[in-house]
Amino acid sequence: MASLQVNNVIKRFGDVEVLKGIDIDAQDGEFLVLVGPSGCGKSTLLNMIAGLDSITDGEVLIDGKVVNAVHPKDRDIAMVFQSYALYPNMTVEKNMAFGMEMRKIPKAERDKAVMSVAKLLQIEELLKRKPGQLSGGQRQRVAMGRALVRDPKIFLFDEPLSNLDAKLRVEMRTEIKKLHRRLGTTIVYVTHDQIEAMTLATRIAVMKDGILQQFATPQEIYDRPANVFVAGFMGSPPMNLIPAKIAKNGDGLSVEIATADERTLRLKLNGTGKGLSAHVGSDVLLGLRPEAITDLESSDSGGDIQEVECSVEVTEPTGPDMLAVLLLGGIEVVSRMRSSANVHMGEMTKFAVNMSKAVFFDTETEERI
Ligand SMILES: Nc1ncnc2c1ncn2[C@@H]1O[C@H](COP(=O)(O)OP(=O)(O)OP(=O)(O)O)[C@@H](O)[C@H]1O
Ligand SMILES: [Mg+2]
Repeated sequence: MASLQVNNVIKRFGDVEVLKGIDIDAQDGEFLVLVGPSGCGKSTLLNMIAGLDSITDGEVLIDGKVVNAVHPKDRDIAMVFQSYALYPNMTVEKNMAFGMEMRKIPKAERDKAVMSVAKLLQIEELLKRKPGQLSGGQRQRVAMGRALVRDPKIFLFDEPLSNLDAKLRVEMRTEIKKLHRRLGTTIVYVTHDQIEAMTLATRIAVMKDGILQQFATPQEIYDRPANVFVAGFMGSPPMNLIPAKIAKNGDGLSVEIATADERTLRLKLNGTGKGLSAHVGSDVLLGLRPEAITDLESSDSGGDIQEVECSVEVTEPTGPDMLAVLLLGGIEVVSRMRSSANVHMGEMTKFAVNMSKAVFFDTETEERI
């Protein structure tokens, strides 16, 4: 187990800067998840932590010691590569045991470790096969197995579940979480999947174009995204971002949303108005998660609930929930309710908006206000 610090790390390939000063850290035993769109620099950052790519500028520290110049094999890190990188001419068993063999661990101990990890990853039947005889998802689990038989200071996982079908992916996610709870080893985990990020992470680093957008707990990222990008990237369906204006309303403030017939829909800003008085008269984006807009029966019991009549454009039952596309003022928004909600396409219905959950973004800078 170990702590990790990444201090103002920059990576250039030729004159292209792909990491533009990344600052993240993981406490001993933390489960850190890196998310962001393809090409934002996640694998590059992981390779630099592993020592497989040189660091152009900045520092990586493991357990408080700068490791910039430490050879990968001396960093005591186990990595699962996005591309698997299995030895093609070795069996699954051998692929998994090879690292231990190199470190002269006795055969009995190796076999025990391989069997226990193979069971966890549901690949016991595949141990005698070679990588060429496996499906993509099976290869991916073998790659995972090869890391898990070790007891390193830090695990680095680069999209380890991306090739598994939905069911296996959820099962493996749970297994990884159990494993982390049992071993307590520090993990840095890359994924595209924001549900995986939310469910696994102690903290999430959201990246875009080589720049860290937000580094916080899953709940903080979900409730208070740092900017419009994070609001749209984390959460499915994404947060509704509603063009609006802040206005004075007696002693307090309200947020005004334009409607199709040139009237305005006003929502009062009770507790949430703090910090917005400087924005009176300005355009903002009002951010509301789908579940902050519900039918009246399933509205939150606490918080600042305001009733708004909306036309229901489309209903989309998902099984556990009902999603509905509504017109809030003149703007299409997505609402999420219990599946039995009495909401029908083409009707005008009263909805409950939980304004305690509202967040606001500056239209110009796209930062949260
Ligand atoms: N060896 C290299 N030489 C030049 N550019 C590179 C090299 N490796 C990566 N890049 C570029 O650096 C950027 C970041 O790549 P990286 O593989 O880290 O992205 P990623 O976030 O892991 O993406 P994905 O989700 O698709 O795996 C990309 O624009 C990529 O083209
Ligand atoms: Mg990658």
